[in-house]
Amino acid sequence: MKFHLQCVKCDQQYPGLDQRYRCDCGGTLDVIHDPSTFNLSTDFFDERRNSSEPMDRSGVWRFRELILPLGDDTLSHCVVTRGEGNTHLYPASRLGEQIGAPKLWLKHEGENPTGSFKDRGMTSGNTMARHLGMTRVACASTGNTSASMASYAARCGMGAVVFIPEGKIAYGKLSQALAYGARTIQIDGDFDDAMSLVQDLCAQEGIYLLNSVNPFRIEGQKAIGFEIIQDLSWQVPDWIVLPGGNLGNNTAIAKGMLELYERGLIDRLPRMAVIQAAGANPLYAAWSSGNAVAPMTADTIATAIKIGAPVSWRKSLRGIRALDGVVTQVSDNEIMDAKAQVDASGIGAEPASCATVAGLKRLLKEGVISKDETIVGVLTGNLLKDPDVVVGYHTSALDGIDSARANAPAKAPADVDAIRKLIQS
Ligand code: F0G
Repeated sequence: MKFHLQCVKCDQQYPGLDQRYRCDCGGTLDVIHDPSTFNLSTDFFDERRNSSEPMDRSGVWRFRELILPLGDDTLSHCVVTRGEGNTHLYPASRLGEQIGAPKLWLKHEGENPTGSFKDRGMTSGNTMARHLGMTRVACASTGNTSASMASYAARCGMGAVVFIPEGKIAYGKLSQALAYGARTIQIDGDFDDAMSLVQDLCAQEGIYLLNSVNPFRIEGQKAIGFEIIQDLSWQVPDWIVLPGGNLGNNTAIAKGMLELYERGLIDRLPRMAVIQAAGANPLYAAWSSGNAVAPMTADTIATAIKIGAPVSWRKSLRGIRALDGVVTQVSDNEIMDAKAQVDASGIGAEPASCATVAGLKRLLKEGVISKDETIVGVLTGNLLKDPDVVVGYHTSALDGIDSARANAPAKAPADVDAIRKLIQS
């Protein structure tokens, strides 16, 4: 086997195909690849991008030797792909100029098949589920994970069970889980309660757990970083900025960057900035105090990252430190203000994604990031995931939010002169 599992806490190793998510000591697990088994070049991945083979065209499986090295024969029998990835890396210099970062790029992960970066982890996670012969998968979710898991499970005829916090997920996401046919259970509790319940259920019922505590989810999400680097012709940006909730995504991107660097595919590492909502900031609190992450009760308008007890915190901190990174926090007002700017730039994203730009604005102001640096901000989810919050913002109907950039709809009688007056004003 070309990979094994290793505990983040005590380094205990397990065979790569052991069906476990944690070490006996309780620590989470990494997939450790054997670097001697491949010697790949950047040209090799560039050629794959031009190929018409479905696995090569996926923005995850194009990098399969770095993700799930089971070999093409095996993979071709179990891969579940929707051609995920291949998301745009937008030059965002106009928005960048507005916020004082002219060399800004935005990688829009909301352009994945189900509208979020979760598809990258779900293609790898569901593929592993099939390889292991599982018939059911489950997750707890603030919405996007469940939407993605439900879709990928449906594509391969796998049963799907979803735990969501009742009344606290955006309708765009809930509707996807229902539409794709997942057994959807609304928990009378928050995401952290749902997370704890789903781990028990999976252990008792032999269901494959597809939260990011599953190390193969992390492997797929590494491809966000691989694609950023490939999109930039294998040049490394100074910074990658992204939101943090359950902390799987920053773990994944950092792990991927370190692996590219170890294999000589990049010649330096980017720095990383992880942005949390101030009302859901356990990582920020740990980062600024130097203590371990302590669970908290979370509250933020960015429901995707409303998480108080992130499962991947240990891996996350390790990756941020290895990339000389920083963690900061932003208020809901800052998130919504940045969102209005991202949306009005013609790109658009859901609230949690816009914590990226809100955090970037803060780090530029504090001088942590400088205007001469090349920055890639990750927009994690699609604008249409949470339309209620958009309409609420533009009609100044959100409690505690300023709506300073509101673009309220105008009312007019069915009369052309009245309408002419309106659009001239
Ligand atoms: N952005 C969006 C749009 C998300 O949906 C999430 C997580 C994050 C950022 C944070 O990523 O958890 O890896 O730090 N959503 C999860 C879910 C928790 O259930 O959909 P993370």
